[in-house]
Amino acid sequence: MNQEQKEILKLKKDKNAVILAHNYQAAEIQEIADFLGDSLELCVESSQIEDADLVVFCGVDFMAETAAILNPSKKILIPEPQAECPMAHMLPQKELLKYKRRYPDAAVVLYVNTMAEAKAEADILCTSANAVKVVESLDEDQILFGPDMNLAWFVQEQTDKEIIPIPEKGHCYVHKMFNMADIAFSHENYPDAEVLVHPECDGEVQQLADHVLSTGGMIRHVANSSKKTFLIGTEVDMVTRLRRENPDKLIYPLLDEAICENMKLHTLDKVKKSLEEEKFLVTIPQEIADKARKAVERMLEVSL
Ligand code: 13P
Ligand code: SF4
Repeated sequence: MNQEQKEILKLKKDKNAVILAHNYQAAEIQEIADFLGDSLELCVESSQIEDADLVVFCGVDFMAETAAILNPSKKILIPEPQAECPMAHMLPQKELLKYKRRYPDAAVVLYVNTMAEAKAEADILCTSANAVKVVESLDEDQILFGPDMNLAWFVQEQTDKEIIPIPEKGHCYVHKMFNMADIAFSHENYPDAEVLVHPECDGEVQQLADHVLSTGGMIRHVANSSKKTFLIGTEVDMVTRLRRENPDKLIYPLLDEAICENMKLHTLDKVKKSLEEEKFLVTIPQEIADKARKAVERMLEVSL
């Protein structure tokens, strides 16, 4: 641990705070987190926080908002408020309402990568770890699903229900970087390796990979696999965590350029300031939070 990390750990103790971080955070932030996980694991963890006075959330905006939705009486802080997930802004509430009017009988399943106002209009949320299970839990056969068109494709491949992607082309700029040539190159040069990709990658990339998994699914898969070599088709700092936890295995990024700049806006400096000055507070109007909480809790009931 460096000096700044030690200072953060002391501050954390003095303030009775916990630090939650997503798997895409840089190594130095992963190391000081009380909990590191994928979106679903972070939702579950957020729903179980009991005695902390402060929660510092090192992830993008929609993740910190979800923690605030689940903990209306706690102070949820985000070290850098500009850490936004562009995909989460591709389906604003107004746009969602238009689709709901057009398809009045469809159920609305929203990816957790949406903002609170949109979540408030969803029947249920999902993450990349539970999307198929969530869709299959519903009575309706027609599903409005957004905003990621690739996760919608992944679900459609595994269900007989009609999945309608909303908006038509919602996507993640990081996972869009992967293409079929990257997978072909990996299979050719690492014939014994397994290629794992995230369901936010294009459908044709998913089809060529060995496994399509959430980031938490990748962690479990690598830990339990008898294979030795893995190529990881998601944000590069997943490789950081996988290497730290599996020192006996060979783990490579499928693409060095796959960096989520938005996640990387959090730094140790900003985490320290966040704890010292108790900023930046994540706030959600109560009426929206109450409606959104129902959709989050319904997802947790299906997932747990
Ligand atoms: P996971 O839930 O698989 O961690 O994915 C979150 C995300 O934003 C992927 O880009
Ligand atoms: Fe959003 Fe993509 Fe970054 Fe995930 S990797 S937080 S979907 S921009």
